[in-house]
Amino acid sequence: MKFEIKHYDIFKQETDCLILAVVNGEEQSDQIKAFDKLTDNLVAELIKSGDFKGNIGDTLPLYHVSQVAAKKVLLVGIGNSQDNLLINIPKITKSIADQLACLNSKTVSYAVSHINDSSVYHFVRFFIENLNNHTYRFDEYQTTKSKTVITEKLDLILADNTLLKSAQLAVDHGQIIANAVSATKSLANQPSNICNAQYLADRAKQLSIEHEKLSFSCYDEQALALLKMDAYLAVGRGSDNESIMTILDYRGSKNKKDAPIVLVGKGLTFDSGGISIKPAAAMDEMKYDMCGAATVYGVMKAIAELNLPINVIGVMAGCENMPSSTSYRPGDILTTLSGQTVEVINTDAEGRLVLCDVLTFVERYKPRSVIDIATLTGACIVALGHHYTGVLGNDDQLVAQLIEASKKAHDKAWALPMDDDFQAQIKSTCADIVNSAGRDGGTITAGCFLSRFTKNYHWAHLDIAGTAWKSGANKGATGRPVAMLIQYLLDQSH
Ligand code: BES
Ligand code: MN
Ligand code: ZN
Repeated sequence: MKFEIKHYDIFKQETDCLILAVVNGEEQSDQIKAFDKLTDNLVAELIKSGDFKGNIGDTLPLYHVSQVAAKKVLLVGIGNSQDNLLINIPKITKSIADQLACLNSKTVSYAVSHINDSSVYHFVRFFIENLNNHTYRFDEYQTTKSKTVITEKLDLILADNTLLKSAQLAVDHGQIIANAVSATKSLANQPSNICNAQYLADRAKQLSIEHEKLSFSCYDEQALALLKMDAYLAVGRGSDNESIMTILDYRGSKNKKDAPIVLVGKGLTFDSGGISIKPAAAMDEMKYDMCGAATVYGVMKAIAELNLPINVIGVMAGCENMPSSTSYRPGDILTTLSGQTVEVINTDAEGRLVLCDVLTFVERYKPRSVIDIATLTGACIVALGHHYTGVLGNDDQLVAQLIEASKKAHDKAWALPMDDDFQAQIKSTCADIVNSAGRDGGTITAGCFLSRFTKNYHWAHLDIAGTAWKSGANKGATGRPVAMLIQYLLDQSH
């Protein structure tokens, strides 16, 4: 959906649907007053009769309002000044999206009201991001497409021109972030028979062709072997799909040599568990085990579009974990790129094996900081449910900045502890460390494992096992934590 700020007369403009915000029990906006003047007090009468209350998320479509040029008018309730309009944006936009799905509206105008200088940026940006989220569909593979008309264009009409500058910035940011989230969802939703590590590389290459400041490179199995990334290679050895590490290099800083922020995404295009095979229930969802890499893809796209004045490197660690006679086994001892050895206890704890070599590899960039993003542990879902991304790291300031960004972006994240008490759990009897430390504190011990490979730079780890996708009737990638990371990078750009 394309969002724009426009200045036309909302009642004279031809559009498929005009959306007007109505408050509950308070003085209505100038737009509603003007609408009532034209329509013989339509809204006032609806409120008086109790047919429309204006509570948060209430909607009422009006057809054939002959006094306005719009084909339909949609009243949407935004509560009253006791309610926090900004906090209720998800609910309001959900109601709007549900209505738009039935209203056959290609073009929509939204009359923005009840905002001021301090709330306009926030409102406009999150309105766009949320509406985009609620209207996203993944129907590439459905041969009978739903007949509902999808809204293509939404104009935001501001009554107060003094808010224009902030609103325009919010549209620019909101539109780019929304597109990045959709791009991440659409990549993450691809099935594993289409999306393998080569596919991730191809998509990244295509992105680099579209954006001048992005350059692309990749390492296939031969190249990974030359680098001695044997833990990474071990995970992919049971699969016919080649392991490929893809790198997108964005140089936006005036000085191309400025230390980059490095993003590393786990890109298991399918995680069967390998020889320690997973149970059949919900195994289909392991196509989403590349959501970390898909997040990197969306974030790199967004920073190129935002033209951020920083250097950022995105790594997509593509790989597939399958059982076969060539698979790595429980009991194997692997030598990682760092030289440290790992005893494989469970081949299903594969993400950390792929990541550990990449985390050592990225030392060569002399990074300002490194953030990895991974659907790493089921334990994270036990700890934080599907609401919060888990954050761990070796630098309290970096962790705090990420949490702050997550709050600003409405993309929730929560810090977990990772002190030395946990490190004892990954001791091995025959190698330096084990790859699986059992159930207790599973997210933290996975973090401890990674921490052995990140000693030379500021590092944070985002466990997105609970937040990257939804199961059940609404199965699909969420595009998280793209918004949080873009916010972090925006914050780092001043
Ligand atoms: N990709 C999974 C983690 C996962 C599981 C994410 C379920 C979302 C839902 C990861 O590779 C994995 O299998 N982790 C194991 C680690 C264990 C063997 C130490 C897990 O969480 O069970
Ligand atoms: Mn696994
Ligand atoms: Zn996995």
